[in-house]
Amino acid sequence: MEMILRLEKVSAYYGKKSALKEVSMSVPKKQITAIIGPSGCGKSTLLRCINSLLSEEKDASYTGDIFLGEKNTRDIEGDELRRRIGMVFQTPSPFPFSVYKNMTYAPKYNGVHSKKELDRIAVEKLKMTGLFDEVSAELDKSALKLSGGQQQRLCIARALTVDPEILMLDEPCSALDIKSSAIIEKMLAELKKTYTIIIVTHNLAQAKRIADRTVFMYDGHVIEEGPTDEIFGNPKKEETKDFLSGVFG
Ligand SMILES: Nc1ncnc2c1ncn2[C@@H]1O[C@H](COP(=O)(O)OP(=O)(O)O)[C@@H](O)[C@H]1O
Ligand SMILES: [Mg+2]
Repeated sequence: MEMILRLEKVSAYYGKKSALKEVSMSVPKKQITAIIGPSGCGKSTLLRCINSLLSEEKDASYTGDIFLGEKNTRDIEGDELRRRIGMVFQTPSPFPFSVYKNMTYAPKYNGVHSKKELDRIAVEKLKMTGLFDEVSAELDKSALKLSGGQQQRLCIARALTVDPEILMLDEPCSALDIKSSAIIEKMLAELKKTYTIIIVTHNLAQAKRIADRTVFMYDGHVIEEGPTDEIFGNPKKEETKDFLSGVFG
């Protein structure tokens, strides 16, 4: 199994407060890795270390090493790293522009100017997220007029316009209804043929349904990681067993 991302003893701090404690883990290429664990255990902080957003926050920092392929991410410039590792947040947050402009904004920023190429990218990624048929007649409509589920799929499509290697999603379905969540789950199962996916979810059933690999975090530590079937079916650590059986959440 090829690992695209490797963390070695990553510790993160907000001021003096430690939020991640020597986290080591690996992410397999073109699979879905779910990160689960109680609120405040460090899941979002972990994602912000991976794409180096944490280093841009005042008073926040991390130690340890993160490797994207063979390269230490500290040696990759921030913008470049965040092009290669896309990110989607909990609250759907399209730019307050048209659907088309949402889809061409990042490619333009990265130097694509031919209308034909911009159209191609927009159509390809909207199709990948199942949105094209729904919005093709109204690409000039404001993205904010779409439903919540459509907005979130647009944010995923937008993240894909610069062809990242890894797509990270931080609780992408928590603000959505069951039907919209199901559409997104189905879409992620398709997208993993092309991209590596890391998803933080508080929905254990969702992790069980879609993740190949699951990482359980507690109090800034990775307690246990492995194939999803093993983590859910035969957890080895007491904390994992307690969390999965609902002792705390
Ligand atoms: N910007 C911040 N400043 C200070 N503490 C923070 C900040 N962001 C998160 N924390 C703290 O770091 C810990 C981990 O937070 P977070 O990564 O958001 O957890 P999760 O995503 O698992 O809910 C929590 O104790 C949280 O209060
Ligand atoms: Mg979080």
